[in-house]
Amino acid sequence: MTNDAYSDRGNKDRSIANADGQGSAIPKSTDKAHASPGGPFLIGDAMTGGYGTGPDILHSCTIAVERGQIAVIVGPNGAGKSTAMKAVFGMLNVRSGHVKLDGEDITGLSPQARVAKGMGFVPQTSNIFTTMTVEENLEMGAFIRRDDFRGTMAQVYDLFPILKDKRHQAAGELSGGQRQQVAVGRALMTQPKVLMLDEPTAGVSPIVMDELFDRIIEVARTGIPILMVEQNARQALEIADKGYVLVQGRNAYTGTGKELLADPEVRRSFLGG
Ligand SMILES: Nc1ncnc2c1ncn2[C@@H]1O[C@H](COP(=O)(O)OP(=O)(O)OP(=O)(O)O)[C@@H](O)[C@H]1O
Ligand SMILES: [Mg+2]
Repeated sequence: MTNDAYSDRGNKDRSIANADGQGSAIPKSTDKAHASPGGPFLIGDAMTGGYGTGPDILHSCTIAVERGQIAVIVGPNGAGKSTAMKAVFGMLNVRSGHVKLDGEDITGLSPQARVAKGMGFVPQTSNIFTTMTVEENLEMGAFIRRDDFRGTMAQVYDLFPILKDKRHQAAGELSGGQRQQVAVGRALMTQPKVLMLDEPTAGVSPIVMDELFDRIIEVARTGIPILMVEQNARQALEIADKGYVLVQGRNAYTGTGKELLADPEVRRSFLGG
């Protein structure tokens, strides 16, 4: 993927969300739009914590994404990337630190409450219902909605046409790349204001990876900020506005995607030279 592709990323269709990252057709009387116009749209700030009563995995770890941007988290296996994502989504008790969405402290909220606030999350594993059809998976994604979600489903099918062709097929019968499209599509069904993706290109071929990245850029282009973990560090940093390198639960390097790609230390240690 080239910088040209980046500067002209995605299409001009802003139908999945409103243009400013606030987008949702779900009326929310409690919305505090632009509560913190300067700060990141979503931030897990100085998070420390681990699983249950176990040792801390995260050590004052910070990850964030700004409005209209793509932020990418990279780092070695076991660095705590997924743990940091789970902490931001409320699946982990943080012993210290805060999670803020659009300026509001949501540290104490359940994952379900965070979805209602506009967060979409695609976990690294078990991110689809394999015995259900593609369409049933998308319907499950719309579980919090009380309005008509058929328009959103049509938008997901526009974004991922193969899913429309296979909508009556069991999701478990799809290829790896197609399953990831189901997982992302499912998360989009709530019309999230921000999307968190944990290794959306895991286990797919380089061609499918490029294709998925293009679709992710397209989603970002509709105004949904994206916070994602990626193993394909170089390619991911190429499309990243902001990058975080985590090592042993700590922030090792932070910068723009370009800065990290140019950093000799980052290149040597994490990008294969
Ligand atoms: N459910 C869990 N219970 C206890 N410890 C866990 C759990 N999940 C992960 N860990 C531990 O937390 C640490 C960080 O794991 P995590 O999955 O966050 O790493 P990661 O950076 O996402 O790795 P990968 O690149 O392999 O996905 C590891 O030491 C792991 O063993
Ligand atoms: Mg992980």
